[in-house]
Amino acid sequence: TLLATAAVVTLSTAAQAQTIGFSQIGSESGWRAAETTLTRQQAEERGITLQFSDAQQRQENQIAAIRSFIAQGVDAILLAPVVATGWDSVLEEAKEAEIPVVLLDRQVDSSEDLYLTAVGSDLVHEGEVAGQWLVDTVGEDECRVVELQGTTGSSPAIDRKTGFENAIEGHDNIEIVRSQTGDFTRTGGKEVMESFLQAEGGGENICALYAHNDDMAIGAIQAMKEAGVNPGEDVLVVSIDAVPDIFQAMANGDANATVELTPNMAGPAFDALEAYMADGTEPEKFIQTESKLYTQDDNPEAEYEARKDLGY
Ligand code: AHR
Repeated sequence: TLLATAAVVTLSTAAQAQTIGFSQIGSESGWRAAETTLTRQQAEERGITLQFSDAQQRQENQIAAIRSFIAQGVDAILLAPVVATGWDSVLEEAKEAEIPVVLLDRQVDSSEDLYLTAVGSDLVHEGEVAGQWLVDTVGEDECRVVELQGTTGSSPAIDRKTGFENAIEGHDNIEIVRSQTGDFTRTGGKEVMESFLQAEGGGENICALYAHNDDMAIGAIQAMKEAGVNPGEDVLVVSIDAVPDIFQAMANGDANATVELTPNMAGPAFDALEAYMADGTEPEKFIQTESKLYTQDDNPEAEYEARKDLGY
């Protein structure tokens, strides 16, 4: 028994003494900042040493960070990939070095053998949930939609667009009349919405805004207010993430709906890595998180209170 206890202690100490590299995209949105905070918290709670690298939205910085993690001999790598393509070589290098890579919140086009698992939501489904909300809300009314896309080439921008288009397909009264990237930022959302309003001759010809994240929606809400348009009423606002500020906007009547993306991707990622490192348990290739719709009827004040201290 004594020997067994000693073995368990040694094993759990070894399991806790992990060094994990995290190549984060940047801090473009409130959601991203929350993911970083929660990853740090999760690592600390589990006794993991986290090597954090902020890529400032550049794939080349992410590739350099991964190479440096490999050179340091980290036990595993978390990667939130800014865009979907161009990862094969560096992922092969990690595989050759026998360092498992877990993708967080975005997908890559590389072969599945090049990473251990991916934690994230079904990004197409998120767009479908947002689109279905609009279909149900406008009924048979004519609805001209403007769309703020996320970072060009990123899997959420590609998939959230596809999902929304799937949902409105066959509803000829709903049409996307303008669509442009706002790069997942508030500033981007505000600037592009200003140009949409100008091009459309104000807000009267726009029925709804679909933004690929809440931050762009919040920037766009500001642009609408400055232009004398009433967001949430004159122009319906639906977006994705469920950050605290969008609940405040919903409570004020400025936004109508959001689809939740949990910022706690690291919890399931560390669970999968722990099991894999303990006895080689292979996780599913995709660990899916929930995509829940919230509207103004879902007590946005309470949702704001519940989230406001989570580091968003
Ligand atoms: O990949 C997830 C997306 O990235 C979030 O929806 C957005 O806010 C972030 O920038």
